[in-house]
Amino acid sequence: MYNYTTLPPEACNFVAVAESAELSDGERLFVEIDDLPIVVFRIARMLFAIADTCSHDDGPLGDGDLEGYEIICPRHGARFDVRTGKVLRLPAVVDIPAYPVREVEGQIEIGIPKEQE
Ligand code: FES
Repeated sequence: MYNYTTLPPEACNFVAVAESAELSDGERLFVEIDDLPIVVFRIARMLFAIADTCSHDDGPLGDGDLEGYEIICPRHGARFDVRTGKVLRLPAVVDIPAYPVREVEGQIEIGIPKEQE
């Protein structure tokens, strides 16, 4: 399962990665949690976090163009839904991890599933 956004909060350890003010609407932020590269988007004032690694050839994904909620891999054009990590277009065929994100007291926090640790 790669769509960790559906896990209950107690199944994740939430890690503060930035202040809310650092991520404006329409922007993205690159972070690492325990060597795990993650990109966070704020779209229509909501936050989404996905692995910054394409499932096709492990290329960095976060620099790709965004169309609505679809991120387009800059290497070979695979597409993924940033809300769920679901793969939408070849050449990738495997979903990527999507992580829960929340804002607590002015901090952006990403939930890493405990089963991953
Ligand atoms: S590395 Fe992303 S489509 Fe090939």
